[in-house]
Amino acid sequence: MKAMTLLAAAMAAGLPQGTAAQDADIAAGKAYAETICAACHAILPDEEVSPLLAATPFQEVANTRGMTELALTVWLQSSHPTMPNIILEQDDMRNVVAYIRSLKGG
Ligand code: HEC
Repeated sequence: MKAMTLLAAAMAAGLPQGTAAQDADIAAGKAYAETICAACHAILPDEEVSPLLAATPFQEVANTRGMTELALTVWLQSSHPTMPNIILEQDDMRNVVAYIRSLKGG
């Protein structure tokens, strides 16, 4: 029953809320990353070592060949043995992906 409730909640969160899709907000994505992801990942452009060594710095993620918006989104929606399964709401996901991609090239 609990699993069903979680699933329903996840689906509700993933549904479009009736408004037109907004553009990704890079600043919001950065703030989100600072709150949630920075516990393990280096999230700033000049940070080269992550707090958790196994977690790839975001700039390195951004510079990884083939790490498109789609690839990142898919990665964040699948489960990983070494990273907790953080359920991102769709807006947060879009913002945080936009933030990571904004680090590219540095
Ligand atoms: C508790 C620690 C932890 C937190 C919190 C965390 N991660 Fe991770 N993350 C990891 C670890 C460890 C890896 C390496 C896992 C692997 O390669 O399988 C990883 C890998 C990744 C990768 C793939 C990098 C690559 O090059 O393979 C991405 C993208 C990523 N994390 C994004 C995020 C985002 C976005 C957040 C915040 C919403 C986040 N992570 C929060 C620990 C964490």
